[in-house]
Amino acid sequence: MFFHILTLFPDMVMEGLSTSILGRAMEKGLIHIEAVNIRDYADNKHLRVDDYTYGGGAGMLMRAQPVYGAYEAVVEKIGYRPRVVYLTPQGEVFRQSKARELAEEEHLILLCGHYEGIDERVLEEIVTDYVSIGDYVLTGGELPAMVLVDAISRMVPGVLGNGDSGEIESFSDGLLEYPQYSRPEEWHGKHVPEVLLSGHPANIEKWRREQSILRTAARRPDLLEHAGLTPEEWECAGRVLARTDQPPEEWEKS
Ligand code: ADE
Repeated sequence: MFFHILTLFPDMVMEGLSTSILGRAMEKGLIHIEAVNIRDYADNKHLRVDDYTYGGGAGMLMRAQPVYGAYEAVVEKIGYRPRVVYLTPQGEVFRQSKARELAEEEHLILLCGHYEGIDERVLEEIVTDYVSIGDYVLTGGELPAMVLVDAISRMVPGVLGNGDSGEIESFSDGLLEYPQYSRPEEWHGKHVPEVLLSGHPANIEKWRREQSILRTAARRPDLLEHAGLTPEEWECAGRVLARTDQPPEEWEKS
């Protein structure tokens, strides 16, 4: 899979994405990441990429021309018009389902804005998907683009390298992941749950599913609705949900 990141800060994204699992995936040729410097496509002598906004107001805007130039350079290289994701707090909130969907693409352009954003006219012409990574405002689209590259790359076969697809972790079945334990069996007086030492796969699976449900009910009850729970599982979740309606114990004491 090929990621083309259109940015004013190519070093930032390449440095951030070249280590650890993604770095190895790049070395193996499973994913390809290039940062396209938008400034290289500015058509004026001073390579200016920003300008004042019509109508007044604080801040500068990224000009349409260099953004379009960078986009056209990618299109020319790969020979077709791929999906273009613009990272913006105005977009749909990024979820695992979107990562899965975008992982099906052969090439993906990620467009990073700066300043007060980008001239609307070029967005209208090239952007296919508007994506936000959450309801807060960052200084630019680079960190969000890196978040997308990471989440999407995990879905590419071979990237995780342990034979697992990225699909058996939190969110793949719409639930948060169950708690996990490693050696030693006892740490700070806390013991690994007995069932995990039992060597009984069916019981372990049952326990993990139950823990996922309980944890999701406690931490992200909004996810339960689309998690496809059976009536018994709803009952299990319901015990936690009922409890979280109560005020915390400390309040009652004071
Ligand atoms: N650019 C600035 N803030 C952002 C956010 N929350 N998500 C995506 N892109 C952004």
